[in-house]
Formats: sequence, C-alpha cells, structure tokens
Amino acid sequence: MCGIVGYSGRAAAAPLVFAGLKRLEYRGYDSVGIATLDGNNIQIIKKQGKVSSLENFVDGLSGNTGIGHTRWATHGKPSDINAHPHACGKFAVVHNGIIENYAELKARYFPDISFTSRTDSEIIVRLLDKFYSGNLLQTLKEVSSLLKGSYAVLVICADFNGFAVMKYKSPVIIGGGRGESFAASDAPALAGLCKKISVLEDGDFAIVSAHRIKIYDNNLNPVVRQKIINHATAASLDLNGCAHYMQKEILENPTAVENTVKAFSRVQGKLKEVFTDINRVIITGCGTAYNSGLVAKRYIESFARIPAEAEIAGEFRYKNPVITSGTAVIAISQSGETADTVEAAKLAKSLGAKVIAVTNAPYSALTLISDVVVPVAAGHEICVAATKSYTGQIAALYLTAKLLASFNKKSAVRLMKNAKAEICSVVPLLKSTVAHTDIEALAQVCARADGVYFLGRDIDYAVALEGSLKLKEITYIQSEGYPAGELKHGTLALIDENKTAVVIITDEGLSVKCENAVEQVLSRKGKVAVITNVKECAERLKDEVPVIEIPACPKELSPLLSAAAVQLLAYKTAIILDRNPDQPRNLAKSVTVE
Ligand code: AGP
Ligand code: GLU
Repeated sequence: MCGIVGYSGRAAAAPLVFAGLKRLEYRGYDSVGIATLDGNNIQIIKKQGKVSSLENFVDGLSGNTGIGHTRWATHGKPSDINAHPHACGKFAVVHNGIIENYAELKARYFPDISFTSRTDSEIIVRLLDKFYSGNLLQTLKEVSSLLKGSYAVLVICADFNGFAVMKYKSPVIIGGGRGESFAASDAPALAGLCKKISVLEDGDFAIVSAHRIKIYDNNLNPVVRQKIINHATAASLDLNGCAHYMQKEILENPTAVENTVKAFSRVQGKLKEVFTDINRVIITGCGTAYNSGLVAKRYIESFARIPAEAEIAGEFRYKNPVITSGTAVIAISQSGETADTVEAAKLAKSLGAKVIAVTNAPYSALTLISDVVVPVAAGHEICVAATKSYTGQIAALYLTAKLLASFNKKSAVRLMKNAKAEICSVVPLLKSTVAHTDIEALAQVCARADGVYFLGRDIDYAVALEGSLKLKEITYIQSEGYPAGELKHGTLALIDENKTAVVIITDEGLSVKCENAVEQVLSRKGKVAVITNVKECAERLKDEVPVIEIPACPKELSPLLSAAAVQLLAYKTAIILDRNPDQPRNLAKSVTVE
C-alpha cells in the first residue's frame, strides 16, 4: 500500500527515484509524485495516475537528493492535489500508512488553517514545519510522539543535504555505499543498487545523506539494525518475455513449490520445538493467504488429527478469541506486512499462543513477532493477484502439517522425507499444467457471464474460494465460491442463462455428487465449466460443457494443480475482457492499513 523511495548521492535524484517507484508500483498506483532538493530549493511534481504519468517531467527536477511516492489512497480521492509529496515551509514528505488522529491534531494545532489536500498525511508536514527547531532529528521525535496510526515517512528539509526517515508499522529499508544512499518500502526498488539493506524497526528514525546513514531508536540512541541481502535483481523483476507479471508468476508456480520444499528443511528443527505440547491450531490470514489456510486446516486435521480452525485475520482480532494453553497460531501472509494479519499474530502472542509465520517475506513485521518462520520461497511476487505465493504456501503448510503429524513418532524422519518426495512428485505435473493447459473455452464462458460461481466439495471448495477471489479481483465479474452441496440451499435461485458455474472436481469419491451440481445449474439454463482430474467425470461431461483435465495426483496435493488452473482461468478471462491483471482497480499488493 503505497511505495516510497528516497535517494541522496552524486547522480540526479529524480530519475533514480522514478525508476524505484516503477518497481514499487504494485504497492499502489493511483497517483505519483517526486520532490528533489537542489541546494536549499525544494522542487515537486505530482500527478494523479500511474507512475508513468511523471515520465515526461522527471528531467525537469534538479538536485541530488529526492523522495518519491506511488499512492494507494486511503484519505482523500486520487487527485493531483492529494498526491504526495506534501510540502510546508522548509519541508516535503512522502508517507505510507494512515495517521489515525490527523483530524484531532489538526483541530488542536491548526484550527484556523485550511489544508491544501484532503489527506491524513498533510498533518505530518504541517507539524514538522510548526515544531522545527533547527534540529531535524529532535523535530522528528517530537512530531512522531504526536502521531497515532502507521507511518513510513521520508522527509526532505531545505536545511539538510539528504533526507530523514520515521518508521512505525509501515516498512522501510535503507541501504547505501560508494557515495549514495537509498531508502524504500521494499527491496525491489533497490534491485541492482544495494546488495545489503538494513530493515528499520518500529519507532526508528534515520538521517541519511550521500555518505552516511545514521539510524536511531525511539530514544534517539544510535543503533545498528539487522542487515539482509537484497536478492532482488533487475533480471528477477524482468517480465521474461511474458505479457504480464501474472502470467510470468503463474509459470513460476513449480519453482515456488520446489524452492519452498528445499527451504523447509532449514526450519524443521525450530518448528518441532515450537510444536511441543500443541493440541489446537488456529490458522489466520487475509484473502489468498486465508484461502490457503482453509487447505491447511484440512491438512492438520487429517494428518495430525488435531483440531484446527481457519479465521480471517481481521475477524480474529476483534472476536475476543479463546486461546488455551497448547494453542499454536499459524499466521499466513505473502508480504508479512498485512496489518490485520500482523495484529492478529500480535494478539495471539499476547494471549500466550505460539506464533508460526508462513511468509514469502523473510524479514517483515510478521516475522519479527513470530516464534518461528516457515519460509515460502516463491521469490518476489509483483502482480497484485497472488499466484505462486499461494502454491508456495500450500507446500509449506503441507509440510508443516506433516511435521505436526510426525511428532513423537519413531518414523518421523521417514515421514518427512516421504512428504517432501510427495510434493516433488507433483512438481512436473504442475509444470505441465501451467505450460500446457488450454483454458480458452472455460475463459469464454466466464467472460460472457455476469456472475460466476466457483463450486467444489471439501478441499476443492477451499480452491473454489481462491478461484473466485482471483476472478473477481482481476476481471471485476461478480463471483462467489460455494460448497457444491450448498448450491441447492439458496444460490441456485440466482442461476440463469447469464451465470456460469466453474465446478472443481478432484476427488473421485465425491465426483458423482459434484456432477449433480453441474446438472442443477444446466437445468436452470446456467453455463458450466469443469476443472477435473477424474477421468470418468471428464468423459461423462465433456460433450456437454467445457472441461479441462488436470493431471491426477495424490488427493491432498490436488490444490497445487487446481489452483494453477483457476489462476490461468482468471488470467485468460481478464485478457479476453481487456483488463490489466497486474494492477486491478482499487487494490494494492499489500494492505498495511486496517
Ligand atoms: C490476493 O490475490 C489478493 N490480492 C489479497 O487477497 C491478498 O492475498 C491479501 O491482501 C493478503 O496479503 P498477504 O498475503 O500479503 O498478507
Ligand atoms: N494515507 C495516505 C493517503 O491517503 C497514504 C496512503 C498510502 O500509504 O499510499 O494519502
């Protein structure tokens, strides 16, 4: 949710900041802006629209220090005026997050001033200007003590040849060397520029100039923060000949799964320690991460026979959850930044639960508060719609459940070896699914519908929910996921010739029951498309409706293949409808606000 980039060095700042913003555009893309400092003159350009809207203006900004912002509006509609940076007096700022008490602060300190923008962020720059004492660091501290909410803020001040940083809850990384320093929301912005990056912690400040990066904790003591290697390279962010990141990332599903299996071995020992005396598991996350949690619930219950619940993180936080001794909470998040998931994990921890993070971001707000981190090694996921991170999560959760099941068993080592081998045996099938599945006929019946229902039973129902989320977010077609058996208890009333049901059938034992749902939809003139790995089912249905066959595999691992199929279906449908799957309207890749 919003990308910020800062630079101070020898080169012209604006083109470098602009290039960084382009790489962070997945975080928000409704407006964009850059401020540079030349001598003590601050120059600003900002515009509604995508990062490219600034392309022709970047060269007009001079100076070797700059800050930039690509916005996902929370307060104030997307517009030129509400775009960041916001400026006042000697200051310009860019902000990622929400200042929850901005109205209160405005009423208290600026009762008679009408602000330029409708954003919550403008209060920050107004306060900096009001409290500026000549000591930048002290002023940051004073202002930050007034702010409630979340913020990653980059500040330029006409008196200082560099930029400053404040961080609370929203992410910031900093790196530099050879006379250049950078800050950004996320590593891709610094691909090819910084190999080692420091991860700021909540309450930190930084004063950054071309030759020096000084980080301070909330008491203004100088600190050294954890340094990580930036694995993002310009090549890893390339489209590799694909039309969209979504297409590229679907093709990367097999590698994500393979690498996640390899990475699991590193944490197996630690995870085992955390699992001691666990008798109940709560799984939490948002969106796609929650959907993979629904699959995990089935894994844990069926392999380990331990009760497991899946809870949407934003609900879990506010329901006064029951955490008994022996409860483990598995918090799943691709980004590790999602505010609801991070807060749910914090709450669980404060109530005494062991917290296990399953994430694609090895250093993030979520990992900082977890007892153990189970890595999803999917690599950077740029498209707003999650694809390879979902299958990576399924692999990580499968192994996590198997480990829980192997607890105290003599054959534990063999069980884990087998579990990894099972997943690896599906990787070639996943490769052929993403590369060869012809989804055109199914996508056509979805593209023509004004409502699409994804149906499945048991584990297929969990994937149906993910299919529906994928389709709605990138095509804007109204879509829901339902248990196939529930159709006749209400939803059937909505079926007519303009509705399509996508039915997922990967369980031979349930296949005939799911085919009932197919018939029920067809007899109400609805359209049907089927995704199945049950040969007989495909044979029976293929003359009647479009069917795609995915390879047969061990039952519990079918979500790896059926999820890839629904991802392809959503992607293809978006292309037919001429939607941009990488940057769907109103959305951003990670939601760091509540
Ligand atoms: C997935 O396609 C969505 N864009 C969204 O639901 C996402 O999964 C959700 O916001 C959670 O993100 P996270 O995994 O980074 O926590
Ligand atoms: N709350 C700020 C705004 O709406 C920042 C949003 C963001 O993080 O992009 O402008």
